[in-house]
Amino acid sequence: MRDWAVADAKNRFSELITKALEEGPQRVTRRGRRVVVQAEGEAEITHPAPTGRVEYAGHIAQPAGALRVLLIIGGGIAAYKSLELIRLLKKSGIAVRAILTPAGAHFVTPLSVGALSEDKVYGDLFDLTDEAEMGHIELSRSADLVVVAPATADLMAKAANGIANDLASTALLATDKRVLMAPAMNVRMWAHPATQRNLRRLEADGVTIVGPDEGAMACGEFGPGRMAEPAQIRDAIIRLLSNAAGPLAGAHALVTAGPTVEPIDPVRFLSNRSSGKQGYAIARALAAAGARVTLVSGPVALAAPSSVDAVHVETAHEMLAACQAALPADVFVSVAAVADWRPETSAAEKIKKGQAARVIALTENPDILATLAKPGPKRPRLVIGFAAETEKLEAHARAKIAQKGCDWIVANDVSGDVMGGAENEVVLIRRDGEERWPRMGKDAVGARLATAIADALRARD
Ligand code: C5P
Repeated sequence: MRDWAVADAKNRFSELITKALEEGPQRVTRRGRRVVVQAEGEAEITHPAPTGRVEYAGHIAQPAGALRVLLIIGGGIAAYKSLELIRLLKKSGIAVRAILTPAGAHFVTPLSVGALSEDKVYGDLFDLTDEAEMGHIELSRSADLVVVAPATADLMAKAANGIANDLASTALLATDKRVLMAPAMNVRMWAHPATQRNLRRLEADGVTIVGPDEGAMACGEFGPGRMAEPAQIRDAIIRLLSNAAGPLAGAHALVTAGPTVEPIDPVRFLSNRSSGKQGYAIARALAAAGARVTLVSGPVALAAPSSVDAVHVETAHEMLAACQAALPADVFVSVAAVADWRPETSAAEKIKKGQAARVIALTENPDILATLAKPGPKRPRLVIGFAAETEKLEAHARAKIAQKGCDWIVANDVSGDVMGGAENEVVLIRRDGEERWPRMGKDAVGARLATAIADALRARD
């Protein structure tokens, strides 16, 4: 077992520091087991040593501190989000060493970056002390992954063209590690043909890009250009780090999630209350364990994790086609609440109130789980279905294994607030036995299922 005690305490400190910095410009220092916050012209406020445990939020299958990110913070207003990113990474057991560009240092201070990363912050290529301690080549190679957040138009342009005239661009040219960039810039700068050309070039060079998001920007304009949220960047980092190290490295997982929507006419449909939360959590956990994940999702209110390849569909037919197109896969996890029935016909025009038939004729939808579970060369090695029952949970679920031809069923009682809720209580039913899991968060169900899948695939190898 790992000892998280030290990491927990550090996380607590980081949380305090980030919170203080978010509240406004203030001087935040750490004195022993206390954090001291002082706004300009105000008295010092001392926070005592943090107590209690902090949940280990990451799913990296490596001992804490074993994985290291070199984070290059460029000069943009989004630099403040990089502080939160450092905190999230440390919480996931990933060490962070930062390069703060001179432009970046106009937005966040080396002190905040250093306090959160708990490491020296590098800034200048020509700093003799730095070079003597750790040269720029070593700096970029001692990491497992290089992350640029925010990646400004300038940093992208330099990296795309191999220009190396400061520490950040030199580290990018000297690295032999994978590079992830989170672009952030004004919408017109992002849309400019030069930036788009640089983007294509970087992608062709193997750089992974996360974001940018679309929305209101600090400059008052609206559109794509906002840096991806820290949690999204963290997911992409975990994916890249785990791909090489996780227990599911090299495996392809196919997951369905959410409801399907079956049209009656262009504005009306039949559907169900599935939120997609459990399916998304499973997809994210499988990606964190190193799998390449294809998530085929019906319409939900959730953003797809950046660590998966998401395919958005509406109807059961579309979901089946997307699943078949994604094969071959090592494991298929069918979490979607596929509508069993669809209207026999879907009107091309909106049905007028007066013309509406009182009865809607229904026809059966394809069973995606049963179709993909059919024996054949394309059948995934492990096929897992879900059973949402309101009574006789185990008996119905066991019958479903035979009926659908799948290997496992994850059975859950949906008589309570499971649909749309944050928690789930499931029974994992295999052909040769069953395990009742305690009630836990849907993320935890995802992580535990990912571990069970990794064990099963390893046993089948
Ligand atoms: O038969 P029932 O709907 O209870 O089965 C649930 C399981 O079957 C889930 O894994 C669900 O994703 C899958 N299913 C499917 N296609 C359908 C109906 C259900 O893949 N048309």
